[in-house]
Order: sequence, then C-alpha cells, then structure tokens
Amino acid sequence: MDLTLPKWYDLHTHFRQGANVGLYVADHLAMGCAGALAMPNTKPPVSRISGADTKTARSIEAYREELFEAGASAFDQLIIPLYLTRETTPAMIVAGAESGLLRACKYYPPHGTTNSEHGVPMDEWIGGEVFTAMEDHGIVLCIHGEQHGLIGSAYFDAHQTAESIFYAQTLPRILEAHPRLRIVCEHITTAAAASFVTGAPDRVGATITPQHLLYTVGHLIQGLKYHLYCLPIVKFESDRAALREAVMTPGQSKFFAGTDSAPHTTKATECGCAAGCYTGGCAPQLYAMAFEEAGADLGSDAGRESFTRFLCSNGPAFYGFEGSKETFMMKRETSHTKPHLTEDGPVVPLPYGMGLTLEWSIAAS
Ligand code: DOR
Ligand code: ZN
Repeated sequence: MDLTLPKWYDLHTHFRQGANVGLYVADHLAMGCAGALAMPNTKPPVSRISGADTKTARSIEAYREELFEAGASAFDQLIIPLYLTRETTPAMIVAGAESGLLRACKYYPPHGTTNSEHGVPMDEWIGGEVFTAMEDHGIVLCIHGEQHGLIGSAYFDAHQTAESIFYAQTLPRILEAHPRLRIVCEHITTAAAASFVTGAPDRVGATITPQHLLYTVGHLIQGLKYHLYCLPIVKFESDRAALREAVMTPGQSKFFAGTDSAPHTTKATECGCAAGCYTGGCAPQLYAMAFEEAGADLGSDAGRESFTRFLCSNGPAFYGFEGSKETFMMKRETSHTKPHLTEDGPVVPLPYGMGLTLEWSIAAS
C-alpha cells in the first residue's frame, strides 16, 4: 500500500545545538517534514528574542541562524518558542511579537525534565503581565504539563501522576485567569489530559508523540528499554487508549503531531537516564503504526482523513499557517532505523531501542 500525503509538520521537536544539529535536521527533512517547532531547552537556553549569544542566554534570532545554517532553511516553517525564565519580561513579548520572531513561549516545570532548570513555577506566571502580553499579541503558550517538585509517590502512582495532577489543579486556573490565551498542551500522555483538552475551548490544542500512542509503561519496564524513557513517562493501557481515541475521532481539530524527538548522545548515565526518545527519520512510520494498532485502515478514506488531520493539517491550523502543498510518500514496507554514531556518542532512534522494525517506510520526500 502507498500513502501519498501532504508534507507534515512536527510541532514539537529538539534539534539541540552544535556539531550534530545538521544530522537531526536532515533526518526531519528526509521524513517528509515541511516545518518544525524547535524547542528552546538548548545550552544555554533560548531565553531572549534577538542579539548575540551570551554565556547564559541565546536568542531566537541567533538560534534560528544556527538552525538555518545546519539545513533548516529548507523548512517552510520554523517556530522557535521563547523559554520562559526569570529574565522574561512583558516588554520582550511585545517586542518579539512586533518583530515577527516570537510566535510561542515554552513553560518548563523547574527541574522537571532535560535542561529545565531555568523554568519558573507556573504559579508565578498565572495572572501576570507576561501571560497577559502573550494574550494581547496572540503568542501561543506551549506547556510541559507536569506538576513540579512532587515527592516520588505523588509523581508517579497508580491513580495519579505529575501530569494528571497538573491537569486537575493547574491548567483550569490558567484558562480562567487568561481567557484569550492560546495554549498547546505538549506531549500529553494521560486519559486525564486528553479529556481535559477535548472539553476545553478551541483555543486549547495538544501534541501527542509516537511513543505515547504506541507504548505503555510495561514496554519500558519489561527489559528496562531505556531508549523509551522520556518525560512525561509512557503511561498505562487506559491512557494509551484515550490518546488513540482522541486522534481517531472523526473531524477532530485539537490533537496534532509533535514528536518530542529528543536526541541524547549519552542516554544512560552513572546516576540515572537522560529523558528523551529520538524519532528523527521514523516518526510518520511510527505514527502510522500507532494509527493501525488503534484500528485505522489507512487505505480507506476515513483512515487517511484522520491520519492526515493529525499529521499534516491540525497543527498548521492551530498555529495559523497553511498546510503544505507538497507531498511525500509512504509505503507499507518493512524498514529499519539505525543509530547515529556521533563523536559524542550514539543517538539511538525508536523503535531500534525497542528491538523492533518499522512496518512502514518513506518512499519519497
Ligand atoms: O523526554 C523528554 N526529553 N522530555 C522533555 O520534556 C525534554 C526532552 C529533551 O529535551 O530531551
Ligand atoms: Zn520536548
């Protein structure tokens, strides 16, 4: 079976900084990706709008230049959110919006994930002037929705997790305090988050990764497949079922692709494991596998329609740009991913790190 689709958009990915950026960008281009939202948790963080890098901060303008030089000028969209830190001011939001460089800001729960130590607790933003300036200028808030600073037993338990607590206790307060703020709930993983987004006004959307549609915590734990370790962590069967239902609902417009592809050259460390799954080069194939596991017939009009909405059109519509007029082609043929052997260490993509092959391949992009 062949599947010719409009080129798609990855509205949440990590390209990092330095020598390997070109590899990661090339992987995205090779998988039919027309544009990307490149996360700002680089070293140092992207916490300014313009100007030269300093030891502690880089700007959207400078990071954009680095990505362009590494091949990202071939994308027709490149969104770089501003990392919300103690340096962020309402004046930066206004200047960023007016210059056209700023389209989104990213909230990281402090110490909640990779390079998130510059994050400021959500309670300090709610009702404040930065979020108000974002509302006034139509700047999207991208949220890593996990409650920060919890003890282990609250962080991940059978009946509640850092994510379900965040969606129950914190997100409703943001919506209430900022009635015009456009929000993307990033990489949602739980039934609680999916149901929150479904019931929220249209100004709230969500990205979902391939790994959260395909796997559960059992896959991670059975043999401790640490390449599947990402944050928020993969959850339970009932959560995966809710995510699958959300993306498969005919005509849905809120859920879209955001791979959270996150290259790590040192995955297992002496004192733990770096969070992030690399899906550069294989994300549409993994998403297609997930849709099929969820019961979609990608050969039928209905199946193709829900897959195309999720992968290619809902994301651009939410961020306010046109979907791609170009196409790429997938084939239902087995293929294999390979690690990148970089000078800093191997970057191992899924599903290689899961010992599996891909049931789809990219035929042309
Ligand atoms: O698994 C993750 N990896 N989750 C994040 O929130 C960050 C990302 C990364 O940058 O590696
Ligand atoms: Zn991410």
